[in-house]
Formats: sequence, structure tokens, C-alpha cells
Amino acid sequence: ETEEFLAAFQARIDAEEKIEPKDAMPEGYRRTLVRQIGQHAHSEIVGMLPEGNWITRAPSLKRKAVLLAKVQDEAGHGLYLYCAAETLGVTRDEMTEELLAGKAKYSSIFNYPTLTWADIGAIGWLVDGAAIMNQIPLCRCSFGPYARAMIRICKEESFHQRQGFEIMLTLCRGTEAQRAMAQDALDRWWWPSLMMFGPHDADSPHTEQSMTWKIKRFTNDELRQKFIDATVPQAEYLGLTVPDPELRWDETLNEGRGGYRHGSIDWDEFWRVVEGEGPMARDRIAARKKAWDDGAWVREAALAHAAKRAARNVA
Ligand code: 3HC
Repeated sequence: ETEEFLAAFQARIDAEEKIEPKDAMPEGYRRTLVRQIGQHAHSEIVGMLPEGNWITRAPSLKRKAVLLAKVQDEAGHGLYLYCAAETLGVTRDEMTEELLAGKAKYSSIFNYPTLTWADIGAIGWLVDGAAIMNQIPLCRCSFGPYARAMIRICKEESFHQRQGFEIMLTLCRGTEAQRAMAQDALDRWWWPSLMMFGPHDADSPHTEQSMTWKIKRFTNDELRQKFIDATVPQAEYLGLTVPDPELRWDETLNEGRGGYRHGSIDWDEFWRVVEGEGPMARDRIAARKKAWDDGAWVREAALAHAAKRAARNVA
């Protein structure tokens, strides 16, 4: 790739042009997108597992129907994102085999167990809330198919966040035991939700280049701060305590608009989980491997059917 080619490409990015699959692009730009979109898609699909655990245990038919719809949405998000990644020349099979071989990552957050029904509320409120913070700027990503997939996904994500918050509100307005369940879920999901945004900017090898290429519009720490500033008041409204004794309002933050300073994140835990040592990591990959193997006959049958139809059309 010549300097002129790279400069011409960057000029397109700086002019806010959308890069489409057939456009000439630097190999690094393509590789970064395949990595990020593929991992994003894996996260959506693996993310169905912790929530799916509660479909048969939901406390009412209404909660079961809403949870079913949410888990079904996540499957659809995964499919849109695999399609976006496929426009860059990788196949879904390749991406899935990489995931199952432990070569591709998925979001650390989905390696934590869902122990009570309140976890389903905390996941919708915090995890989907964090996902929205991260995904709204991705609607303006320089790569067309990713940005367009995000626009559709963000519409559904808001429903996910609202239904989670409503579960937490119901519990917090319930019995002492229900309030304790909600607080316990916040205690267990708060810090892993902050880790979803990735390492601090100073420890993020990809952020600078992703910002230059306008794949990222904000850095990891900027999005994490936005999430904290939006979520702490919601916890207060619920009557819950954020499990961070160092959390405090500082009006000098965010150019004088104020914001919350917070305690330090346990990056040892983060990297342990990212490297596959999360509490549920083996279960998640085993479940994905079982689904992939059990579904092989369906994929083979669909391909055989498509080949027969193609042969008939030719004859
Ligand atoms: N979990 C797992 N790995 C993570 C991670 C996390 N929370 N945060 C960072 N990492 C990995 C990165 O993938 C990278 O490893 P790699 O080079 O092997 O890919 C390494 O840690 C360094 O991190 P960087 O910050 O330098 O990497 P990125 O620039 O890729 O930033 C990111 C990380 C912010 C997660 C970015 O990849 C991103 O925005 N991805 C798209 C959004 C996404 O994947 N969200 C996951 C949740 S999806 C979800 O919540 C669905 C909802 O419906 C519930």
C-alpha cells in the first residue's frame, strides 16, 4: 500500500465518506473491522446463553414473553453483524470456527453467571445500557454495512434496556427480599459492565488507529464515563447503592459539566476473563460448540437443497 493510497483513503475518512465493501481499503482497516464486527457478532450470540437460562424460570408469562423477544433480538443482531463481516471476505463458518477454537473473543460480560431473576433486570439495565453507549456512536462508523446494522440494532437495544430497568424498578418497589435481590445483582454486575468498554485508553492497542479511521468515535474511557454518569442517577432513583465506595460527583469533570469519579477497575479480573478464565467461559463455548455440531446436518441439508435447486434451474 503506497503512501498516496493511504493518504487518499484517510482523506475519504476525514471527509466523512462511507466506505463500502467493494471500495479499495487498507488491509489493516479491513482486518480491524473483521476482528471487531466478528467479535461483536459472537458477543450477541453468546449473550443469548446467560439470558436464555431464565426463559423457563421467568416469574410470569409476561416476563417470559418479553425475555423470549429479547433473546430472539440478540440472535438477529448476531446475524446482521455476521452478514456485515461477510462483506469483508470472511465466512460465518470461519468466524464460528475461530470462536470455538478460542481464537476470536466475545464480550467478557457474558462469562458471568445469571444466579437470580434480578440478574435479568441488571443485564437489561446495565449490559444493554452499556451496549447502547457503545453502539450509538458505531451508527456513525466509517464502514457502511457496520453503521447500517447498528442503526437497526440500536432501535431494539432501547427496548432491552427499558425492560431491564423496569424489572429492577418492580423489584425495588417490592418486598425487602426483592430489594435485596436487586442490590445483589447490582453488586455483581456493576464492575463487569464497566469492563465491557475495554481497557483504559493508555492500555488499548487499537483505540488510536480506530479513532483515526472513525471506526470508533469515542475512546473506551470516554464511553465508560458517559455510561457511569448516566447510570448512577438511575441507581439512586431505584434506591440502590452502586458498589464503589470511591464514587463521587466532581463538577470539574467533562469540561465543567461535572461527572462521577470512580474507584479503580480490577484489570487482573478483566484480563483473566478475556483470556477465557471467566466463571462460565467453558460452559459458553461448550454450549456454542454443541449448537454448532448439532446444527451441522441442517446446514448440510440446506446446502444440498440449494445445489439441487441450482442444478434444476440450469437444466
Ligand atoms: N471483552 C472481551 N475482549 C475485550 C473487551 C471485552 N469487554 N474489551 C476489549 N477487549 C479486547 C479487544 O478485543 C482487544 O483484543 P483483540 O486485539 O484480540 O481483539 C483487546 O482487548 C484490546 O482492547 P482494545 O480496546 O484495544 O480493542 P478495541 O479497539 O476492539 O475496543 C471494544 C474494544 C470497545 C469492545 C470494541 O471492540 C467494540 O466497540 N466492539 C463492538 C461492541 C461490542 O463488541 N460490544 C460487546 C457487547 S455486545 C452486547 O452487549 C450485546 C447486547 O445486546 C447485550
